[in-house]
Amino acid sequence: MQVGQRLYQQAKRLIPGATQLFGKRPELYAPDQWPPYYATALGCQVTDLDGNTYVDMSTGGIGATVLGYSDPDVTHAVIDAIQRGSMCSLNPAQEVELVQLLIDIHPWAQMARLGRMGGESMAMAIRIARARTQRDKVAFCGYHGWHDWYLAANLSVSGDDTVNDRLADYHLMAGLDPAGIPKKLAGTAIPFGYNKIDELKTIVDREGQHLAAIVMEPTRSDEPAPGFLESVRDLANRSGARLVFDEITIGWKLCLGGSHLKYGVEPDIAVFAKSTGNGHPIAAVLGNADTMQAAQNTFISSALWTEAVGPAAGIAAINKFKRVDVPKHIDRIGRAVRDGLAELATENNLPLSFSAHPALTQYRFDHPHQAAIQTLWTVRMLERGFLTAGLFCPMLSHESSHVSAFLNACEPVFFEISQAIKDQSLEQRIGGPVKHTGFTRLA
Ligand SMILES: Cc1ncc(COP(=O)(O)O)c(C=O)c1O
Repeated sequence: MQVGQRLYQQAKRLIPGATQLFGKRPELYAPDQWPPYYATALGCQVTDLDGNTYVDMSTGGIGATVLGYSDPDVTHAVIDAIQRGSMCSLNPAQEVELVQLLIDIHPWAQMARLGRMGGESMAMAIRIARARTQRDKVAFCGYHGWHDWYLAANLSVSGDDTVNDRLADYHLMAGLDPAGIPKKLAGTAIPFGYNKIDELKTIVDREGQHLAAIVMEPTRSDEPAPGFLESVRDLANRSGARLVFDEITIGWKLCLGGSHLKYGVEPDIAVFAKSTGNGHPIAAVLGNADTMQAAQNTFISSALWTEAVGPAAGIAAINKFKRVDVPKHIDRIGRAVRDGLAELATENNLPLSFSAHPALTQYRFDHPHQAAIQTLWTVRMLERGFLTAGLFCPMLSHESSHVSAFLNACEPVFFEISQAIKDQSLEQRIGGPVKHTGFTRLA
């Protein structure tokens, strides 16, 4: 057995669930074949523990490294912060500069608190909104991490302990149980669908005076329907709930700053993480002064929020975003990949569909055996030196030559997939199990 796969077997015995992020489980890509660990990640090239090198045409550090792996400018700033001592009894001065940079880019905001992770920063935003409004309930749309305020959405309100199907359909992966979430939180997190303003209106009509926040990504898989974000803003104003935009994944990818700037709708709070420090741990809860002042009335505090690497990475990344038009580059790369794949799919009669933004390209084979198709594609692309998944996050480090090499490698694979569908041999060809879909406990 290869070094990486052997280590992963050990991890399964030592670490419940094997990885720290669900989305990095090899089982989601190609069980027993996807490289579980990397030795180096530079630009868009990844070398695994067995010495295989791949061009990464997959999730781009789960959407966190929009500049590419080990970006020289960010890396330089991080090394400098470490060499000067990244933890101290005093505070890192860079945090003030970082907050000022964020405010300059988002003129509607006057204050920010810094964290390190996306999910924890969403929890911070909810706490601030609850403290400001002195209300408990949250209307939300989409994924926002692992914290209690959010997973409470899957607690049964009726008390019969069944997962609320409607919530699972829209927002959470199939199979996610709210185990460990206090049952008393049932009914505090209420979902609505993206672009479904009537669903939010119904919640506001029913619960408006109890709503602390309306929480959503301004966009992810779909463009907002005309007037949708404006109507959400109106409903927040009408109910007194704070509007929280989650920019953790989409932020910096569509424009300089949060995607809401592109759509011209101002939230009360916007939350950033991931690309804000090009994958180094730094997150920000940015808001208007009226909302953010409430952070003073509640206890929000952590020792490791005071280390200096995160702010140094954030400043270096944002200054680079100001110098280089990253959204333009990743849109161009994402479009080239889509156009090429769409052409190959048509040639081979494969039903392939794409999400809205080339800069965050999700694709799907609309076929009853989509998981097997996706797995076979991944396995064959690994053999050709590419990491491929159902999500492609282009990075500044991707060049046109990577795209052409990728599409050339895809050509025979798409042909094989269409043959395998015809002769019903998808699973035999994979050479291992089909990828998992949804949340499952690992054996
Ligand atoms: C929209 C959104 N919110 C929150 C999170 C959670 O962030 P983290 O994984 O850094 O805790 C993610 C992560 O994928 C995300 O995409």
